[in-house]
Amino acid sequence: MTSTTSPRLATTDSALDDLIAKESDIFLRRQPVSRGLHDRARHSLAGGATSNWQIAEPQAVWMSHGHGSKIYDVDGTEYSDFHGGYGVSLAGHAHPAIVAAVEARIGRGTHFAQPTLDAMAVAEELTRRFGLPQWRFANSGTEATMDAVHLMRAATERDLIIKVEGCYHGHHDSVQVSVMPEDDEIGPADRPTPLPGNSGIPQAIRDLVNVVGFNDLPAVERALNEYDGKIAGMIVEPVMMNAGIIPPDIGYLAGLRDLVHEHGALLTFDEVKTGFTTGPGGVTATSGVTPDLLCLAKALGGGLPTAAIGGNAELMGMIADGRYEQVGTFNGNPLAMASTRAMLTQVLVPEAYDHLDRLSTRMRDGIESVIAEHDLPWHVVTAGAKGCITFLPDPIRNFRDFLQIDDQLGQAHWLMQHNGGVFLPPWGKIEQWLISVQHTDDDVDRFIGNVAKLATRVAPPALR
Ligand SMILES: Cc1ncc(COP(=O)(O)O)c(C=O)c1O
Repeated sequence: MTSTTSPRLATTDSALDDLIAKESDIFLRRQPVSRGLHDRARHSLAGGATSNWQIAEPQAVWMSHGHGSKIYDVDGTEYSDFHGGYGVSLAGHAHPAIVAAVEARIGRGTHFAQPTLDAMAVAEELTRRFGLPQWRFANSGTEATMDAVHLMRAATERDLIIKVEGCYHGHHDSVQVSVMPEDDEIGPADRPTPLPGNSGIPQAIRDLVNVVGFNDLPAVERALNEYDGKIAGMIVEPVMMNAGIIPPDIGYLAGLRDLVHEHGALLTFDEVKTGFTTGPGGVTATSGVTPDLLCLAKALGGGLPTAAIGGNAELMGMIADGRYEQVGTFNGNPLAMASTRAMLTQVLVPEAYDHLDRLSTRMRDGIESVIAEHDLPWHVVTAGAKGCITFLPDPIRNFRDFLQIDDQLGQAHWLMQHNGGVFLPPWGKIEQWLISVQHTDDDVDRFIGNVAKLATRVAPPALR
């Protein structure tokens, strides 16, 4: 990826490097116990962590516990948690309704590989929120999008799919294409080159994926025409959330639905990130565009691992009669379903969304005042409880625009938030903040205060 320095900032690349080096040093000095655990863990855990996403420079942070809006690392440092476990912790931590539901279930057995009443209650509530009649459960976003792609292929008896450049849909083969491609390999914007998103993804799989830019309806139409009768469907995040936050143009989502249907293909919305964080019924409800298939995970389970696939009667009928085998030992796990039911019926109630909206506005207003005060070429993007600072002056519309954002600024921001008591997802510009139902004005103000500190370091009269 490129590292560009905006002409309107007083910083230079090397000044930003110095800032990052100083903040990294503070970061490491704050957590000797984490460091010790990391050194020990490297012998038994590959890379000293349980997922490669936990290995961020300068070092993974080992956590002890969480309560409300706060989390505590093993060194005893408190953070306002805006990381939210990559978008899971919309309930905050140890929410009383989730704790009660899990406690009530755990003493009565946690796994039977048979349906329980909670699973039906959850499915009924998902229908009410998202407008799709039938549901199945899985254990991760990856499993949900994998089933959706399989189902699109099974229903149409076609192999090709369309995927958006820069969208992440999990780590199964079909969608590990052009996830975070390097800008010197991506090819022309109107015909992006399908690039492997990981090692171990065969060329034969990549050949099945047509990559298009976000907000580019003509590219979708071209692919559908070029491979007429061969495209099973398209999978897309209806608001892109693995490249900061990129909203759809007005009419884009409805345009996608109409185009794929004209060609006998199907549309899947991946609402793994957006599902509950942008509103009670996700982007599906706010946009009024109901896809053929919908994937949910992350916040759904109230902190326990679970995922859901919703679909229209015809597609879900293929599961019902076994034409597509949607399976999994832990699907609809009773403990996860108990937590999910509490999340949907007791935590994510209308007043909770009022609270999230109020805090989101406070965050946006506060950061915008800092930006205005320091005349910085940045802007704020929010989508319900999610938000980010885009380190560019103008709104971005696709992954190519996203590549223009300065990586260094994202890293400096992450480090300064961390050292200022705010936990955010690493990878700077890629991820977003998540506000939980237990966050307070003080948490938001702490975040804004750290942005102000960053602003004084990078704005004129130059880096100090
Ligand atoms: C939009 C989207 N879809 C799917 C996934 C995969 O979810 P999981 O990590 O639960 O497999 C993610 C994970 O970040 C995601 O952001």
